[in-house]
Amino acid sequence: MNEEYKRILDEDVRLVNEAISRCGELSYSDTPGELVIKAESYSLLAGGKRIRAALCVELNRLFGGRIADCCYDVAACLEYIHAFSLIHDDMPEMDNDPVRRGKPSTHVKFGQNTALLAGDGLSLLPFEIIPKLCENRSIDPERAVRLMGTLASAAGSRGMIMGQALDIHSEGIDCDLDYLIKMSELKTGCLLKASAVFGAILAGASKKEEEAASRYAAGVGLAFQIVDDVLDIIGDEKLLGKPIGSDKRRNKNTFAAVLGIDGAMKLAKKYTDQAVSAIASYEGSELLCQLAQDLMSRNK
Ligand code: IPE
Ligand code: IPE
Ligand code: MG
Ligand code: MG
Ligand code: MG
Repeated sequence: MNEEYKRILDEDVRLVNEAISRCGELSYSDTPGELVIKAESYSLLAGGKRIRAALCVELNRLFGGRIADCCYDVAACLEYIHAFSLIHDDMPEMDNDPVRRGKPSTHVKFGQNTALLAGDGLSLLPFEIIPKLCENRSIDPERAVRLMGTLASAAGSRGMIMGQALDIHSEGIDCDLDYLIKMSELKTGCLLKASAVFGAILAGASKKEEEAASRYAAGVGLAFQIVDDVLDIIGDEKLLGKPIGSDKRRNKNTFAAVLGIDGAMKLAKKYTDQAVSAIASYEGSELLCQLAQDLMSRNK
C-alpha cells in the first residue's frame, strides 16, 4: 500500500484503539463479578486488524464527515460486535478454536461460561455507548437511532447470527456456491456493510452515497471471507494468529474447499473489482480502492 494511505489507516487504528481504551464500561476491578468485563477487555485488546472500524472512519471521510473523537467511539462499537462474534465463534459449540489473535481464545483463558457472558456483554455495549454519545451531544438523536438500528439488524438473527447458523448447519454436508455466498454475505458481509454505512450515516451522506458505501462493503465482505477461507489452508499460523486447518477439521463448506484455491481467488478478485467500481467515481476514494485490493492479497 502507498505509504501515505498506510499512514492514514495506521492512524485510524491507533485512534480506534484509544477509543476502546477510554471506554469506561470496559474497565474492571479484580473481583469475581467483574471477570466478565476482564474477559471482554482481554478479547478486545488482543489486537485485530480493526478493518470494520477503519471502514467506518474512511467512508465518513470520503463523504465529507467531520473526523472527531465521537467518530472513533462509534467506529469502536463495530469492533465490540466483531469481538463478541469471535468469542462465540471460537467456542467448542461453534468452531472450537483454542487460539485467536495469537493468544488463547477467551473461553480457553476464562472458561466457557465467562466467555459466553463476555460475548453477550460486548454485543450490548454499543447500545449503551451510542445513547451516551447522544446525551453528551456528540451525535444527534436521529443519527443515533439509525446507527443502532443498522447495527442491530446487521448483527442479529437475520444478519450475522443467521450467517453463523448457516455455517454451523453446513458442517459435514455438501453445499453449492449460492449457499456459500448467502452464508458469507450474512456472517461476514452484514457487519462490514454496517461499518461502511456507519461512516455514511455519520457523514450525513445522501441515500445514493450510502448505497455506494454498502455496495463497496458487500464486495469487500465476500472477498474478505473468501481470502479468510483460503488462508485457513495456505496461511501462516503465526501471522494469522489463529489455527489453520480449522475449517477442514470441522468439515466446513468453504469457498476454498468448493472452488479450490485458484477458483476461490478468482472469485475474490471479481468481488474486489465490484467493490472498487462501487466507489471509484467519488473523489478521494483511492484509499478505499487500495484497501479493497490489499485485503485480497493479505496474509493475516
Ligand atoms: C475474522 O475477522 C473473522 C471473519 C469474519 C473472517 P478478521 O480477520 O477481521 O479478524 P481480526 O479482527 O483481524 O482479528
Ligand atoms: C467467522 O467466520 C465469522 C464470524 C465470526 C461472524 P470464521 O469462523 O471463518 O472466522 P475465523 O476463521 O474463525 O476467524
Ligand atoms: Mg466460524
Ligand atoms: Mg471460526
Ligand atoms: Mg475462517
